[in-house]
Amino acid sequence: MKATAPGRINLIGEHVDYQGGMVMPAAIDRYIRAFAQENQRPEIRLSSSRSKGELVIPIAHDTPFSGDDSWANYAFGVVAKYRDAGYEIAGFDVRFESDLPVGAGLSSSAALETAAALVVEEILGINLSKTERALLCQSAEHDWAGVPCGIMDQLAVNAGVSEHVLKIDCSTHEITQVPLPAELSVVVVDSKVKHALADGEYAKRKADCDAATAYFDVEFLRDVTIDELDSARLQIGERVYRRARHVITEIARVHDFSAALDAGDTTRAGTLMAASHSSLRDDYEVSCHEIDALVKIAIRLGAIGSRIMGGGFGGSLINLVETDTASQFAEEIVACYRKEIGLDVEAMAVKLVGGACIEGIG
Ligand code: GLA
Repeated sequence: MKATAPGRINLIGEHVDYQGGMVMPAAIDRYIRAFAQENQRPEIRLSSSRSKGELVIPIAHDTPFSGDDSWANYAFGVVAKYRDAGYEIAGFDVRFESDLPVGAGLSSSAALETAAALVVEEILGINLSKTERALLCQSAEHDWAGVPCGIMDQLAVNAGVSEHVLKIDCSTHEITQVPLPAELSVVVVDSKVKHALADGEYAKRKADCDAATAYFDVEFLRDVTIDELDSARLQIGERVYRRARHVITEIARVHDFSAALDAGDTTRAGTLMAASHSSLRDDYEVSCHEIDALVKIAIRLGAIGSRIMGGGFGGSLINLVETDTASQFAEEIVACYRKEIGLDVEAMAVKLVGGACIEGIG
């Protein structure tokens, strides 16, 4: 059997999903594919086009992997979550193949988790709802990979719709499908600066937000206004203040961005993406100088909007461009960066596609 799970972009709404905010991601035409078959043994055998050899893991195994094997946390962690939910899982062999860059802010983690989840469900003959599956994958990422991620990536990978962006309320998981106008396209630029969210910086950002919610005694920062935050600046300290200011202002930007798209006001949409980037760079401190330089080049080359995307600390920037300029923009940003900085980046004009699925018996 074959399961296919796409990566995702996010137009706006960064580092707000774990604070109950609104996000605007979409699934894209870069995929992780899982090829699987039952093996009649009490074990899972994992292999990947990205790593050597095969990992043979007893189904009862219950501790996270480390070092070179840590990618298995995303796949086997999901198997373990179904097992721990009471499902009796038959052993299987699975090989993952991918054209989705790892550590590029395109959600290869959620794609790997979801591909594994679909294989398990197919073998069990069950079909969880997209939201239930996304939540199960998220809990595997928390408990096996050790990243306290939000729900955006797993929902986008599971619930993507062709040519649409998803507007997701991360406090209720309610999803609204918003068509992306044909004259707008997305070009992702992978800076090749690799991030590893598991190395702790992501968790530190979340911990700062948790300190702010504890101070205000609320579940999420979405329930705090900017005036309330301003009046608590001295009490919560400058770092926590700036982290919370990013979250609160970013949530407001998503609402404004969505309204701007509805009104066809692309200039306003671009301005909001620029403000998102500045806030992620200055208040949340998740950008890096390579991406800051690329964002400047992107705007000079005529992008409507450009900003760092995903967890940050490297990875990709997202550029919203006029469709008829997309391929030229992609070529030019690579050439300019090479000329000015002397390094190679990869630009991809991406299509917005449907979510993860099983593709029949093979
Ligand atoms: C990573 C996480 C998401 C989200 C983004 C930042 O991709 O997995 O839950 O927090 O970072 O918006």
